[in-house]
Amino acid sequence: MEQRIQVLFGTETGNAEYCAEVLAGAIGEVGLEAVHVDMEDFLPESLVDESLVFIITSTHGNGDPPPNAAELLEHLQGGAQALPDLRYGVCGLGDSAFPYFAQCGKDFDAALERLGAQRVVDRVDCDDDFDAEFAQFKESVLNYVRGLLTDASDSNTSEPVTCSLMSGPGAGVTSSC
Ligand SMILES: Cc1cc2nc3c(=O)[nH]c(=O)nc-3n(C[C@H](O)[C@H](O)[C@H](O)COP(=O)(O)O)c2cc1C
Repeated sequence: MEQRIQVLFGTETGNAEYCAEVLAGAIGEVGLEAVHVDMEDFLPESLVDESLVFIITSTHGNGDPPPNAAELLEHLQGGAQALPDLRYGVCGLGDSAFPYFAQCGKDFDAALERLGAQRVVDRVDCDDDFDAEFAQFKESVLNYVRGLLTDASDSNTSEPVTCSLMSGPGAGVTSSC
């Protein structure tokens, strides 16, 4: 089975979409295929078929998800099936002037943890000027995916392929990301 890494974004005014596009592009440059996807265009039930996702979401209202993230978050907090095979990381965008700082990212992180998914990078909560904190999240993700490629090239090729690989230093090796 071949899969692309999904970078799912929840946004109202575009910041999280921008970050998701940057992250997916950076993962691609490292050598794994990634796409940034509006949460509204992602079927919540299909999360069970994914092996690695990164979530980047802002918070709006008073600690609420942006409208395009509401359905997926509700699904995860409600009757979603367990996700023990899913690996994930969350980056929350917010503004610490609000009482529920970056709450939506925290809620996704907690819901995924409760469903048994494995957090592979620490959650980062980005304040209003998000560049430096987002860069920190991006670096953690890139370190993680570089590790996947290194592991794959160190092992034999009988491992299952669950991510399709693009160009770059890891091209041609298999990975179980
Ligand atoms: C009306 C409004 C409500 C907001 N509410 C919150 C909030 O409750 N908590 C928080 O941390 N940030 C809050 N924010 C800040 C946004 O999350 C932040 O500006 C973020 O970068 C927006 O990202 P987006 O463009 O992807 O939606 C709010 C912003 C607006 C405009």
